[in-house]
Amino acid sequence: MSNIEQIKQSAEYQELMQALQAYDQAKARAASERVMTRASDSGSNEGTIGGATGELPKFPSSSLPQHSDNSALTARQDEIVEAQNVNWFAYDKLDGAVVHGNMEAQDLLDNTKWMLKGTDEERAQHAHEDDFGVDDAHPGENAIDIYEAVPQYVAKNFLAFIEAPNIISALLRMLALIFENIFNGDFSQLKFEIIDPVLIGLPARKALNEEELNFFPDDDQRYPKPTYYHDYRDDDLMGWLQVAPMAPLYKHLSLYTEHLTNFPVTNEMFKQVSHFRQDDLEQAMLDKRVFIANYNNFHPQTTAEKTNQAYGATLNAALALFAIPKNGGSLKIIAIQPTQNNQPSNFLWWLNRTFGVNDNNNPWSRILTPADDYWTWQMAKNTVTTMSSMSGVVDHLSTHLYLGPIPIAFYRNIPSHHPLAALLDTHLMSLVGNNFTGIFKDVGTNFSSVDFGDGYHGLLTGAISNLSGFSSESFVNATVARAQEYHFIEDSTPLDRSQDDDYAKIQDYALHDDNQILPIIKRWVGNYLSLYYSNDTDVINDYELQGFLSETTNLGQVNGFPDNATSIDELVDITSRIIFWMSTNHALDRFPSFSTIGSLGYYSSRVPGPGEVHNKNDWLNICPTINAGLALFVFSRIFVDLPTDWHRSLGKYPQGQFMQDQRIYSHLTKFQDELKALDDEIKTKNEARRWGFDLRMPSTITVSPWN
Ligand SMILES: [Fe+2]
Repeated sequence: MSNIEQIKQSAEYQELMQALQAYDQAKARAASERVMTRASDSGSNEGTIGGATGELPKFPSSSLPQHSDNSALTARQDEIVEAQNVNWFAYDKLDGAVVHGNMEAQDLLDNTKWMLKGTDEERAQHAHEDDFGVDDAHPGENAIDIYEAVPQYVAKNFLAFIEAPNIISALLRMLALIFENIFNGDFSQLKFEIIDPVLIGLPARKALNEEELNFFPDDDQRYPKPTYYHDYRDDDLMGWLQVAPMAPLYKHLSLYTEHLTNFPVTNEMFKQVSHFRQDDLEQAMLDKRVFIANYNNFHPQTTAEKTNQAYGATLNAALALFAIPKNGGSLKIIAIQPTQNNQPSNFLWWLNRTFGVNDNNNPWSRILTPADDYWTWQMAKNTVTTMSSMSGVVDHLSTHLYLGPIPIAFYRNIPSHHPLAALLDTHLMSLVGNNFTGIFKDVGTNFSSVDFGDGYHGLLTGAISNLSGFSSESFVNATVARAQEYHFIEDSTPLDRSQDDDYAKIQDYALHDDNQILPIIKRWVGNYLSLYYSNDTDVINDYELQGFLSETTNLGQVNGFPDNATSIDELVDITSRIIFWMSTNHALDRFPSFSTIGSLGYYSSRVPGPGEVHNKNDWLNICPTINAGLALFVFSRIFVDLPTDWHRSLGKYPQGQFMQDQRIYSHLTKFQDELKALDDEIKTKNEARRWGFDLRMPSTITVSPWN
């Protein structure tokens, strides 16, 4: 009998197979059970990630405070007094950020779930929201499949892992944890808790081939692979990832107008690249055809001391040069320098390659081009893609942090009678709770929603040090710094390509060209608010609105946020931008799930250099270990794909959200139709592209920062 046959007949193997079967059954059962609770029943914030569903009474009729009758006025005043007592801005929890200081506030608890409004009967009669074919309240549609990748991956690779000691018992422990969480229903928590068992349960060894780095369950449409999945070694993908990046506020690509002393690219290097053999670098720069992706702002984090080895993960503040050929075409990669410090001295460089001598505060590297050895060049590309992946994750969390004060001011100033209450509360859903969970909630200690901790051990900020080349401190520092750069108006104003000269030579700039959502939101908001505001004086006299704007700016310190509004136009603009920020600017692509190039670490302390010769094994060795790769895959799924297109996406509102005023529905229908049309338009565009770009598709953009 072969070893494999012996293993298959062992009691442990049989037990594992039974556990996998039971897992499938348990999952099916959980999906068929519809569980609905009032948030207020739970009495505490359990840190859900927007996956759960609840129910609240229908909204009262909306009116402006200055037009409110006496009884409504008393009710809204009482509501505000209570809200201001329990919702407050906290300045001492995280340096450089303003966060909500009370995780027990009822307004918060009522806004962490997908809250249907009214009773079943009321909704059956009066609610007319289009669900786009997806029931957002059904638990079978929530994030239950996030961790399904684990048993699928284990089953697929079981025989390859069998050499690892005790692996079966480790896997059984991991599966037991999954079962436990399926039954207690807190799926979001599980996504975090599963990271340690995956890290411990799977071998901490390098992949033997690319397939072992494929953590996407095959042929499973709930886990869409990136459209460039099979082309990750294609040089043209490097350019595409710059114009079709994983996060909407990506800022690293800029026009290359003058040479940098720390990145001495030469014309000879430029002319080595096919498409540019008959070209000239200076001329190409004058033609505005040359671009640079520079990750220099991450230099401090990439050189900071890291206490946790994270299976050898590092990151590099790389630079990459791109150009467009004379006769047009897509952005081509020209050169890469893995770190900010070019080492011109041959002797020091020799010391570095021979004895590993280096400057830890300013690590040395040299420029590589596609003319270098094939696998050395592939490794160089990974220094850029991994850094770029981390920049997307930092951008993502920083939007959470930047936007966090808006719901605080909203809860404190906007009562349920106000028209903004029904319009905006879905767009704020889960933001405060998620921020607390990700930054402060420490599963390793006795969690208390009163104890915030230091911000480095939250479910996200704590996990990142195991799964990336950054320490938790570096990650938080980078995130806070990024959040402080945002400007509410500037960063929600789409680039007008017809007025832009810098990027004119880029034919298909997907990030900007697909960005057509803001005008659609504005039409919806304008129509909605016109039902309640007749003229600019109505806006000026709306003291609840003015209080909300003023507090967001002055107490919430949301940079660039207008502290008042004096006209309907201004109000429509501000409100639309809030929705745009909460949805479109919060999007994130699945790139970090793509382990061959998108992981959050370059798994070697030594960057590649020109003239070196490497093989495929060397490249596999700079990819994540199997356990770290799978753990990151599970972890990244928290932030990326929706369980289904149109699941709690932009344009969706909980059933009953608007039934207090039937006039709203014709406007809502128009909004939803326009989003569907835009989605179809981008789909058609993607079919004509070599690789698709879905970051700007309404169907995959969340309605709020709930994930
Ligand atoms: Fe998010």
